[in-house]
Amino acid sequence: MIDPFGRRVTYLRVSVTDRCDLRCQYCMAERMTFLPKRELLTLEEMERVCRAFVAKGVRKLRITGGEPLVRKDVMVLFRGLGRLLNGGGLDELTLTSNGTQLARYADDLAACGVRRINVSLDTLDPDRFRVITRRGDFDRVMAGIAAARAAGLKVKINTVAMRGFNDDEIDRLVAWCGERGLDLCFIETMPMGEIGPDRVDQYLPLSTVRERLAETWTLTDTGFRTGGPARYVDVAETGQRIGFITPMTHNFCESCNRVRLTCTGTLYMCLGQEDAADLRTPLRAYPDDDGPLLDAIDAAIARKPKGHDFVIDREARPAVGRHMSVTGG
Ligand code: GTP
Ligand code: 5AD
Ligand code: SF4
Repeated sequence: MIDPFGRRVTYLRVSVTDRCDLRCQYCMAERMTFLPKRELLTLEEMERVCRAFVAKGVRKLRITGGEPLVRKDVMVLFRGLGRLLNGGGLDELTLTSNGTQLARYADDLAACGVRRINVSLDTLDPDRFRVITRRGDFDRVMAGIAAARAAGLKVKINTVAMRGFNDDEIDRLVAWCGERGLDLCFIETMPMGEIGPDRVDQYLPLSTVRERLAETWTLTDTGFRTGGPARYVDVAETGQRIGFITPMTHNFCESCNRVRLTCTGTLYMCLGQEDAADLRTPLRAYPDDDGPLLDAIDAAIARKPKGHDFVIDREARPAVGRHMSVTGG
């Protein structure tokens, strides 16, 4: 699959639910209305779409949400997709999680062939954790991360950098991750869904974070890539990697290789655009024939836009009205 700008699409992110047990302030509203269950693709339908994408050249699948591990029976999907690893066309099966259910699922995930997971964690302070997630239990996430490590999963921590919220913790996060052998990625806040003045005031360019880190740590640029948008540096003192995901200041759209499927079967060709394609209709209209589904995927890739239109500005409307939780980032 090659888009109009010559970019090869090899990475599919699949949101299996719009629900989450947390309400991170940059991702969801305090009061959310979730989709009725009848709107959702079944897990079997999701596997069928994933298989169609793998047949078309996708090599990396990331399961997202909401929180993917709150979807009932989600391990059925992981087991099915795990069979595509090791010669079935898929190179990597992974997920991005808030960590609350990992203690329960880490061993099962490893058994399905998951090797590396990303866990969102914006602070090491339990009180702050409750503020940013509006309801999270910090110790539960700590137990989840420990369980993932014990199961042999490589863990990458995702931290959204927020001025006045966690910018005083960046060194502590580097040290904490370094001690545990975890990679760490800082992320610039993206304006999605409701964007109030708070979000704009909290926005922190990662160039500032990097300058501050360089006062304490010896950072060396690396060419290391995971197929995701992060640019990585090595930290000499800890031996770990730190990534910077900079949609606002250093756009990575020119090398974009991914598209996103929502839990209702809608395909977004860019995180920062409204245009989307309906895959559920061809999927359901032709239960025994993948042809129309594959055609719909081709037509969608042919419309993949050049990049996002995110702007952080008190006067600006968000480029997209939907919340981050619709596509899981
Ligand atoms: P790796 O495989 O570890 O590289 O993961 P990843 O960075 O692709 O996925 P993850 O779910 O950890 O995403 C981290 C952050 O990057 C999230 O905030 C995502 O919203 C953001 N992100 C991922 N892909 C894109 C993208 O194509 N565009 C933009 N603007 N942000 C993205
Ligand atoms: N801006 C940047 N990153 C975000 N995430 C959720 N909402 C936003 C936002 N508005 C991150 C989460 C998670 C990943 C999937 O997306 O922290 O790690
Ligand atoms: Fe839930 Fe993740 Fe969104 Fe937080 S960022 S509300 S954990 S989906």
